[in-house]
Amino acid sequence: MSDPTHIAAVQFWDREGAAPTHVSWMADPAVRAYINRSISGSPHTWPIDWFVEWLRGRRFERGVSIGCGTGPLERDLIRRGLCRRIDAFDGSPRSIEVARDLARQEGVADRVTYALGDFNDPKLERGAYDIAFFHQSAHHVAKLEKLFSNVLRALKPNGLVYLDEYIGPSRFDWKDDLIAPHRRFFDRIPREARLVEQLPLMNEPEDPSEALRSNEIISQLRHGFTILERRDYGGTLLSVIFPYVDWSRAPAMLVDNIIEGEKELLRSGHPHYHAIVVATPKEGWQRLYARIRYFVAPKLRRIRWEIAKRLSPNRTVKF
Ligand SMILES: C[S@@+](CC[C@H](N)C(=O)[O-])C[C@H]1O[C@@H](n2cnc3c(N)ncnc32)[C@H](O)[C@@H]1O
Repeated sequence: MSDPTHIAAVQFWDREGAAPTHVSWMADPAVRAYINRSISGSPHTWPIDWFVEWLRGRRFERGVSIGCGTGPLERDLIRRGLCRRIDAFDGSPRSIEVARDLARQEGVADRVTYALGDFNDPKLERGAYDIAFFHQSAHHVAKLEKLFSNVLRALKPNGLVYLDEYIGPSRFDWKDDLIAPHRRFFDRIPREARLVEQLPLMNEPEDPSEALRSNEIISQLRHGFTILERRDYGGTLLSVIFPYVDWSRAPAMLVDNIIEGEKELLRSGHPHYHAIVVATPKEGWQRLYARIRYFVAPKLRRIRWEIAKRLSPNRTVKF
């Protein structure tokens, strides 16, 4: 808990847990219809509805939710009967308090166990879970290998990972050329509806855990898990531009225009920044290899980082 990044992230999420200030791009009804359609083919079928259909009747005795925040996902999963019990953890004490209160109010408190925990020092029970959920949390993880290795060990054979995530550029990858297409679009929005003169390189600068290694999530997951299903749902333009628009002054068609702009960007080969992934643990020697890889790779990274630092002490070296 002495890691300054973790402390600042917890402070940020404690404030958000107590009084949310961020309106998510996903909350807009037109955007929601676009997301739902991208995932399920229908504007009315939400991701979890799609997942329930995909499961064809499969249900889970015990799940774990990694980075539960104030707990909307777990309450939904219990209400739907998808999981009988869920253990959930998060680094923000205030969010955990809110999650516990809401679970009590909604009569599901006996089925969800909330605890404080750090993604980068995970302590999941071995072989205990049928399914692990990541809902907009894996992009806050610094030690992806350690967490995925822990999840691999914690899942039962044939268990599942359900991940709904930002998988776009990591925070240190943003450069002027990467954000140029977003800026070109943003600059065409009427000045009075723009909250900033120029789009900044990074959303949520006050949260140092934002997008720490987001662009590695899928490749790291693949080492230990077989991907059974992947549904990309954009966010490439929308998630970057949305927070910087004054929606009370925006022209009526702006959301639809951004959605169309995003589709065009995706057609021209830009990657999706958000996806849902369903995966299952690898078995046998592949699993053993993954565990070794998850253990060794961060150490090699560290060595490479130390060498680069020594060779050019004045340069900022990405770890
Ligand atoms: C975008 S929120 C998602 C919350 C929830 N899953 C949801 O969808 O509403 C990210 C969450 O990650 C948590 N978080 C960030 N860094 C963390 C860390 N190192 N350990 C534990 N939780 C962390 C924050 O407290 C926050 O609740």
